[in-house]
Amino acid sequence: MRSVWLAIAAVTPLLAQSVTYTRDIAPLFQQKCRQCHRSNDIAPFALDSYETAFDWKDDIKLAISDQRMPPWKPVSGHGEFRGDFSLTNEERDLITSWVNQGAPKGDDADLPADEIPEGEWSLGEPDLTLQMPEPFTPPTGKDMYRCFVLPVGSAETKFISATDIIPGDRRTVHHVVLFVDPTGDSEKLDAADPGPGYNCFGGPGFDIYGGALLRGDALALGGWAPGTRATHLPSGVALQLPPNSRVVMQIHYFVRRGTVADQTRVGLYFSKAQPEKRLMFVPALDTRFVIPAGAERHSVTASFIVPPLFDAHLINIFPHMHLLGTEIKVESVSLGGRNVTPLIYIDKWDFNWQGPYTYVKPLALPALSTVRVTCTFNNSDSNPRNPSNPVKPVRRGEGTEDEMCIAALGITLDRERLR
Ligand code: HEC
Repeated sequence: MRSVWLAIAAVTPLLAQSVTYTRDIAPLFQQKCRQCHRSNDIAPFALDSYETAFDWKDDIKLAISDQRMPPWKPVSGHGEFRGDFSLTNEERDLITSWVNQGAPKGDDADLPADEIPEGEWSLGEPDLTLQMPEPFTPPTGKDMYRCFVLPVGSAETKFISATDIIPGDRRTVHHVVLFVDPTGDSEKLDAADPGPGYNCFGGPGFDIYGGALLRGDALALGGWAPGTRATHLPSGVALQLPPNSRVVMQIHYFVRRGTVADQTRVGLYFSKAQPEKRLMFVPALDTRFVIPAGAERHSVTASFIVPPLFDAHLINIFPHMHLLGTEIKVESVSLGGRNVTPLIYIDKWDFNWQGPYTYVKPLALPALSTVRVTCTFNNSDSNPRNPSNPVKPVRRGEGTEDEMCIAALGITLDRERLR
């Protein structure tokens, strides 16, 4: 009881004190909003002055209370990720009280120092920059998913410790996924589609798994969505890029108005020393499901069992569904089922805000534990994103009207020693 009173006593002066923009709100917007809400970026307005914050205060209150903003998807308590830009409950309350108090400005002297302007690449100049060979102009007013083939031009195996993306046009590039093509299949797809690149939706349109795992090759290099910051893999860990690879860059474009040419760049950072472990992507996926037409809540489960003797660590995770997905939950279950560890949970799935999430600390995945993925789909008319009208049974596939239930697990093997 005593501790409750102490807690109330500690909080009361805060509540009584007025919340000001310059002291309390501007630093929060700087950390949690401005990576997207700045000029010429994906968000529709810049949150960089008192005047704009004041003009938008009611929308801000609404958008943060129904948790549409900021668009950080993982639910807290299910895995701890780097670069988390979600608001805590206290931060949400602080912004709400500020709006309720009439959004006072406060003293200019309290304003935080402006963000230090970063160089163009947040990790410094990349070792190799790949760029779309020519600009591409996506259509206005509809989504487009397009793959571009970027030859790496190296006859040797390369080890990559980080990748970064600089969108050519930040207002229209909604998300990017990087796949690896060691055989040239992507070039055939490109040749068959007029204009730069080729249309592709869920994956890159060719089989990325073909033998890559056995060779320890990377089949994807990660992804990017607005607001994400590039990070290096833990020291000693790298992605193995096979000789003569192409990086296939899948871009989701959405152009609100006007057409603008885009020429997005990819930066590759090579490992400085010979790595000790390779990051491999193993998929926990279900390939044989059918989602009945009209089903509002249909669950599909997929699982991956860590093979005997192959104790592993989970570095990052990339959950993936298409437009019917509403929830995705991934857990690891120990042999015998006694311990269940939450890996990630996204309760309001949005295809437009997908990407890889990197754990603050790699998680142990002991041999014979099971990674279990539960996907929930809404294949009825009540799902405004349902691409089929009338609704129809849906199976696994790469098209817009097909579905996926997959978690790509970025793991290292405890026993691997390349050095
Ligand atoms: C990762 C990028 C990103 C971050 C971070 C972000 N926003 Fe947004 N915001 C957007 C985009 C994009 C839109 C346009 C609507 C959409 O596409 O969902 C938007 C729209 C809005 C809107 C307009 C109303 C609406 O809901 O569409 C408000 C208000 C808003 N954001 C407030 C905030 C606040 C406050 C923060 C920080 C606490 C924040 N946003 C952080 C990308 C972001």
